[in-house]
Amino acid sequence: MSDGLLKIGLVGCGQHSHEHFNAAELVSDVKITSCCDIDKSKAKSCAEQYHIQSYYCDIDNMLKNEKLDAVILCTWPIQHAEQIQKCLQSGVKNILCEKSLALSASEAASIWKMVRENDAFIMEACKYRHHPAIKKIEELVSAKTAGKIDNIKAAFSNYEPEELSDTDFANDWRFKKECGGGVPYDWMSYLVNGCNHFAGALPRRVVASGGIGAKSGVITRIFGMIEYENGVTAFIESSKDASFSEELQLNCSNVRINLPIAWGIYGGVTIKQTRRKPEWDYILTDTFEIGEENAFVLQLQNFADVIIKNEQPVIPLHESVINVMTIDALVTSMNENEIVIMDFTEFS
Ligand SMILES: NC(=O)c1ccc[n+]([C@@H]2O[C@H](COP(=O)([O-])OP(=O)(O)OC[C@H]3O[C@@H](n4cnc5c(N)ncnc54)[C@H](O)[C@@H]3O)[C@@H](O)[C@H]2O)c1
Repeated sequence: MSDGLLKIGLVGCGQHSHEHFNAAELVSDVKITSCCDIDKSKAKSCAEQYHIQSYYCDIDNMLKNEKLDAVILCTWPIQHAEQIQKCLQSGVKNILCEKSLALSASEAASIWKMVRENDAFIMEACKYRHHPAIKKIEELVSAKTAGKIDNIKAAFSNYEPEELSDTDFANDWRFKKECGGGVPYDWMSYLVNGCNHFAGALPRRVVASGGIGAKSGVITRIFGMIEYENGVTAFIESSKDASFSEELQLNCSNVRINLPIAWGIYGGVTIKQTRRKPEWDYILTDTFEIGEENAFVLQLQNFADVIIKNEQPVIPLHESVINVMTIDALVTSMNENEIVIMDFTEFS
């Protein structure tokens, strides 16, 4: 940080990288100084578009030649664990890693171990958590008047049948096993993140069912139930065969809180809270209008503030590790047709 700016290298100049490049232009403490993609044309074009000093086709070369304070990993989920290891081995100890942090419980546990051994900081990029709508919901559920959370419903679905997307299909990592595709590591990672966050306890057992795409071989539908140690129960739906939903619903003893678009809020959004007036037999609805905010900017600012000002990360790594373990358990339940009991005794 010689000139007071956090120097960042971005790996994976694909579709989603543009959100990070744009966010970096709006966060005064950071500068993306190099970018990298195995596809040279993508790395070059991002470097030109965002005025990045240098670009690479190989992460090892970038890490060897650049003096970086941090790395943003915007590659496919299957690569995250290995690339985290490369960063740590090269001495880069601050990493913002796109969701899903990893693909399996064992990968997540190995990331946890590496981070502790290297005294490093990794935050999973799950931008919805930085949005003021989520902060408002945190405030609403923690109000005494809300009572206790009983159950949570969370959905992330969109109608994207495999046979209708031949061109996209060939280019989309979400349909490729070899990239870590499938809804569990993509859309469902938001649902698990949200349910685990609001449940306020560790998951105790999970059960799931779903379906595998005939063409892709990846999971394209998953429906699950997570039971937590405090009795809270979460229901999740993530399907490429159902119409669009990104809904989060928190059902407490005295109120029901609904956020119609939770995971990718662009523009404003309205939170709805319904409650029954005890002495009268009618329902009251409170609405909370949340204005437009760029969650990617807030996320990058939080990442920088942890490094520069020693602030707390909005998503601490232990949460992300537990989330990956929960995803793994849901996938196991679906594949093995069994209830999976979660065990965190080895994870401390
Ligand atoms: N938080 C969000 O809102 C959000 C939204 C979309 C995607 N994502 C996440 O972002 C990540 C990337 O998704 P995407 O949609 O941009 O995928 P993408 O396929 O468009 O981009 C990935 C890029 O990584 C490059 N790449 C592959 N292997 C590489 C390597 N070894 N070194 C350097 N580059 C390599 C590919 O060439 C490609 O350009 C995923 O983890 C995804 O879950 C997050």
